[in-house]
Amino acid sequence: MILVKLGGSVITDKSQYQALHEEVLVRLCKEISDSGKDVVVVHGAGSFGHIVAHDNRLADGFKYESQINALATVSRDVRQLNLMVIDAMISAGISPVSLPPSACVVMRDKEIVEIDFDRIRSYLEMGISPVMFGDVALDELQGFSICSGDQIMEALARELVPERVIFVSDVDGIMDREPSEPGAKLVDCIGPSDLDNMSFHVRVKDVTGGIKKKLSAMMKMAGPDGACMIINGRVPGRLEAALRGDEVVGTKVELD
Ligand code: IPE
Repeated sequence: MILVKLGGSVITDKSQYQALHEEVLVRLCKEISDSGKDVVVVHGAGSFGHIVAHDNRLADGFKYESQINALATVSRDVRQLNLMVIDAMISAGISPVSLPPSACVVMRDKEIVEIDFDRIRSYLEMGISPVMFGDVALDELQGFSICSGDQIMEALARELVPERVIFVSDVDGIMDREPSEPGAKLVDCIGPSDLDNMSFHVRVKDVTGGIKKKLSAMMKMAGPDGACMIINGRVPGRLEAALRGDEVVGTKVELD
């Protein structure tokens, strides 16, 4: 089984509320299907989650009354995106089942403390692809919290020990400086010691911590053979190649 995260930045336009990149989503699902691999898919919230979550400080937990309606709105919006992902997967010939974190994840102080892994395994055994996504979730300490796709990836990688972990992004991988700066180069392989020596491209309105936090999380998921990678989903064929285990442009993330 291969664990795939479809980043919110590749399947949506993160700067525009509820803007789906439908043609990209449809193609990525076809690439998953064509690879013939069993997958667990986690997708980001993109502009279906980050904008309202950020404006209402949902990641900080329950602070004021109007957050409750914002939480309901985010939960509805990310489910709408999830339904579009599920539709695209089914059209591509994959059989997915959605497991919304708002219903099956418990957090404590912003960290996941409970996921129903047995349920995920049971679906996988039947040839069904479990799909989870960045969502709101109950938090035992702060009332509610934001459960990011990366946190779910970390928990699933630890528990399910996938053959490979692939993060599908809207960039080729990690660059050694701001991508717009002249001479910026793609880093083929990145390890824990590189984290402090590089400046990274920071995403717009990312309520879950930006690229450094994402990389630290990825370093916990990488196996000893470095089988955790970030690739560009905007370039046709890269996801399918990564799924098949072929050489592909991207950044491999080494174990912490
Ligand atoms: C964020 O999920 C969840 C919400 C804001 C509700 P992610 O952090 O996984 O989403 P992306 O991939 O950055 O869009």
